Amino acid sequence: MQSTIENLIEEINNYDVSNPDQAEAFRLAFLSRKGKVSQLFDTFKLLPGEEKKIYGKSVNEVKKLAETKFKDAQNTKVNQGQVRPDFTRPVKSSTIGSRHPLSIIRDEIIDIFARIGYDVSYGPEIEDDWHNFSALNFPEEHPARDMQDTFFVEKSPDFALRTHTSSVQVRVMENQKPPIRTISPGRVFRNEAISARSHCFFHQIEGLYIDENVSFADLKQTILYFAEQFFGKSKIRMRPSYFPFTEPSAEVDVYWGLNNEVDYRLTKGTGWLEIMGCGMVDPAVLQASGIDSEKYSGFAFGMGIERIALNRYQIPDIRIFSENDQRFLMQFSGK
Ligand code: PHE
Repeated sequence: MQSTIENLIEEINNYDVSNPDQAEAFRLAFLSRKGKVSQLFDTFKLLPGEEKKIYGKSVNEVKKLAETKFKDAQNTKVNQGQVRPDFTRPVKSSTIGSRHPLSIIRDEIIDIFARIGYDVSYGPEIEDDWHNFSALNFPEEHPARDMQDTFFVEKSPDFALRTHTSSVQVRVMENQKPPIRTISPGRVFRNEAISARSHCFFHQIEGLYIDENVSFADLKQTILYFAEQFFGKSKIRMRPSYFPFTEPSAEVDVYWGLNNEVDYRLTKGTGWLEIMGCGMVDPAVLQASGIDSEKYSGFAFGMGIERIALNRYQIPDIRIFSENDQRFLMQFSGK
């Protein structure tokens, strides 16, 4: 009996259980119903009472040895692959991303106009000649239609990437009855040389207000409200300008002041910062879009989102907006 026990202990100690298959083979050889440890117990049971006393402890120790060895094998790194994953462990928390600066500015502008009753409308980025140009009163030979500014769709030249969000004005007027108050944000495209200050695509926000008796004074007051809300500035000026679809047309500057070096750079030493183009919707555009120009009038305005974002965040290069560089984007987390 003594030597049986000793042999078994040696056999158990020498058994290689370093992979899952070996561990299972070990279990079958020693711990199963017909395994060597059970056999040892069978032999033990047949011993006379005297000997049972002598060997009882050792026999139990052999059993424990085999069980411990098997348990340890299950817990080794290699064998853990066989063990079920613990689904109760807490998940690793994922890092929260940040909002794009252009989205931040866009939503702020939408919010400011939503407070005075403007809804939000969208139009397609691939636009037909009618909505991007003709209905907006661009003469047939207007230089803005030129290949130098517009990306045309090669196989069907009546379609182009929209060059401004003013195309959405036409779509809204074609589909809605006044009063119309809407803001149209979106991406626009121009065939320009890419540099720190210009890109072949950028974003605009268009505004349109159509009702009875809308006047230039309403336009001015609305823009002033926006300048106060968005920039915290309460002085604006309008300079005469030209757009085919508005008459009269103006460019809007806000008075920024000249308090520090940044102000000087931003306003080129004038204290005034240009923020948008605007004007009274030309009656010809109203008519083309199915609105009775005898009864209704309105104003429109359009601004570039990148330009505003460049100023607000003091970003030196417009290209960085579309580079998806996390070192840039993560600076806007929580905003
Ligand atoms: N669409 C003009 C542009 O892209 C901006 C504008 C919009 C001007 C509405 C007047 C009215 O420059």
